[in-house]
Amino acid sequence: MQFDPTFRDDLLGDDLWRRAMIDLLLSAPGEYAGLRVDQEAVTAVPLYERQLTFPQPTLWTRLYEGDRLWMSDTPQERLMMLRGTTGMQGHVLVAGGGLGLYPQLLRRYAPVQRVTVVERHPVVAGLLAETLAGDKAIQIIHASFAEYIAGQTPAAFDGCYIDIHPTLDPRWLPGLNWLRDRCAGIVKGTLRIWGYDWMARELVKGLEKEYISLLRQNLTFDDPFGRGLRQELPSGWRAWPEEELRAWLTEYAYRAAWPVEW
Ligand SMILES: C[S@@+](CC[C@H](N)C(=O)[O-])C[C@H]1O[C@@H](n2cnc3c(N)ncnc32)[C@H](O)[C@@H]1O
Repeated sequence: MQFDPTFRDDLLGDDLWRRAMIDLLLSAPGEYAGLRVDQEAVTAVPLYERQLTFPQPTLWTRLYEGDRLWMSDTPQERLMMLRGTTGMQGHVLVAGGGLGLYPQLLRRYAPVQRVTVVERHPVVAGLLAETLAGDKAIQIIHASFAEYIAGQTPAAFDGCYIDIHPTLDPRWLPGLNWLRDRCAGIVKGTLRIWGYDWMARELVKGLEKEYISLLRQNLTFDDPFGRGLRQELPSGWRAWPEEELRAWLTEYAYRAAWPVEW
């Protein structure tokens, strides 16, 4: 398996934009047993911590559970997922179905002959099975990703894309690293995780600000990050230049792994 933690999917460019803003098959607006798909025409949407504005209201689709936004097809999602298709080929395992953008982008832009989407929510899995029924290369499996990969044979997949985290939040990183490490035996080629480099950079900033400043006073948070840093930081770290400490924390962010519930 190849995993590049520095791969950036938060990019924007004319070619990316043109390829991302295509017609995609999406569930029709409506209520679906506790989930809601709606469409709204707006003149501004978030894009990489800024606001992107349009001259006219533009229609976007969103998937909610109660008041919680799970997924949308706004430019940030489309662009990041399109980037995530880079290097994918053959049979790709996809964790998290959502609105089904990624499998469609994979089939359109990458030499991918087969896609296996693992989705934990029964209603989402059902909606996707209907929406994507026209492409027989895409299979939707209703299961938890961790349970599904535990039952797979070595080197069963050529690539893997993980997008089960509800937000771009660094607290998901250890859980994603844990899943990544569990995929090592079953994925031959590229593995990508939505927003990984962005979340890792945020995690390092958070560790520097909250955890390292405390450790300098010989105090620590009693949580996995606090305990992990206290045990693993090499002696003498207090004298390191800022850049050396940041490089160590970055490498720590890439490897810290434990199961996380979300
Ligand atoms: C952000 S959405 C994925 C969006 C998707 N990449 C797309 O193309 O639209 C996250 C999805 O992961 C699913 N999910 C969350 N935890 C999961 C798990 N442990 N196993 C499988 N699916 C999970 C959620 O139900 C949700 O549908």
